[in-house]
Amino acid sequence: MDSDLAEPLDLLDPSIPDRFVDGSADTLFARLRHEAPVHYCRESRFGPFWSVSLYEDIVEIEGQPQLFSSDAKHGGISIIDVDPEQATYLESFIMMDPPQHSQKRRTIAPAFTPSEMARLAESIRERTVTCLDALPRDAQFDWVQKVSIDLTIDMLAILLDFPWDERHKLRVWSDAITSLEMMRNRPEERMTKLFEMASRFHELWQQRSQSAPQPDLLSMMVHSPEFGEMGAAEFMGNLATLIVGGNDTTRNSMSGMIDAFGRWPEQWEKLCADPSLIPNAVSEIIRWQCPALHMRRTALEDVEFRGHRIRKGDKLVLWYVSANRQESLFPDGERFMVDRPNARRHLSFGYGIHRCVGARLAELQLQILLGEMVKRKMRVTPTGPVEREPHPFLAIINAIPVKLG
Ligand code: HEM
Repeated sequence: MDSDLAEPLDLLDPSIPDRFVDGSADTLFARLRHEAPVHYCRESRFGPFWSVSLYEDIVEIEGQPQLFSSDAKHGGISIIDVDPEQATYLESFIMMDPPQHSQKRRTIAPAFTPSEMARLAESIRERTVTCLDALPRDAQFDWVQKVSIDLTIDMLAILLDFPWDERHKLRVWSDAITSLEMMRNRPEERMTKLFEMASRFHELWQQRSQSAPQPDLLSMMVHSPEFGEMGAAEFMGNLATLIVGGNDTTRNSMSGMIDAFGRWPEQWEKLCADPSLIPNAVSEIIRWQCPALHMRRTALEDVEFRGHRIRKGDKLVLWYVSANRQESLFPDGERFMVDRPNARRHLSFGYGIHRCVGARLAELQLQILLGEMVKRKMRVTPTGPVEREPHPFLAIINAIPVKLG
């Protein structure tokens, strides 16, 4: 894939999914940051789009939601346009602009306050300890299946107070929401799963609405005026956001960290020698892995940006994965360093009014996981290639064979 990186700039297509698997995206974005930080791609499998690859430009665009929209009716938040038909049954506040967005966000934000995090920490730790202590000692296993998926699904079940013995369904639904393969080849099966999800949550919604308010997220939504009256489409969209936001991104961070420590084993030694580095290491994992490679906005008016004429309706792809490697902010950014001084400045959680509402929860889960691993001096060694999925929006890791010791 490196061969086409010497091509004329106007022929470069930064969205080719394989680039995020073979590592050539790093080379491409380094070139764009230097030669064309605001770049137009005329033709791609996702249609024409602008690429914004510098940190300060992304921040400036995300800071103007009145000009650059997240709304599903303009295409939504990823380079993959929301299908106009789906837009009617996948409404979520992540794909809304003010003022609707602000009202909805205010309702769920209390589920993520520091005091709520302290309340959840005990259950997260319990689940993490049980999971780590059950890992095979003498055999190879897949970290993604045995740790990343189980822990993040359990967390989501705790957050929503979803019936514990049915929690495996959350995983099936999450896959149905994001899988490009299902979107292309098995759209009906995918829709069946999504409707199954909607119907199960609808039952839970009815039950919670008849009980006293509880601190779980579902109850919080049921009893709020902003969400209490929402229709089926919005209900499904918000669930999809929470399931993907709360699950896939954190799951892929838990997997990405094993890849990172596998490539730079001395960083694991450094962390074990000084566990006070754990919170910083978590930020560095999220910077380095960058679970959402970009977010997308759509111009609501003709606008001049850094000397370029952006037209109303144009798609702007804000490449976090590039900003997180920007040389002026993160020197040697492709390296993973648990003591990187400004790791917390990463853009992986976005910026502005849509900045990830679950950021604290994601960090908490990773801190507990790393903390329990460090306590056990658990050395996890990759034994084969990391299986990354070619995807233009999410950094997905499907498998990492490992052994302990
Ligand atoms: C490492 C893990 C995570 C990453 C990298 C991540 C990334 C992001 C990003 C980039 C956005 C901004 C979207 C935009 O600007 O359009 C976002 C929003 C959001 N995230 Fe996360 N997320 C993570 C974990 C979580 C968790 C654990 C939850 C909840 C369970 C969550 C729930 C949400 C929600 C509800 C929004 C929408 C916020 C809004 O539109 O105001 N995320 N996330």
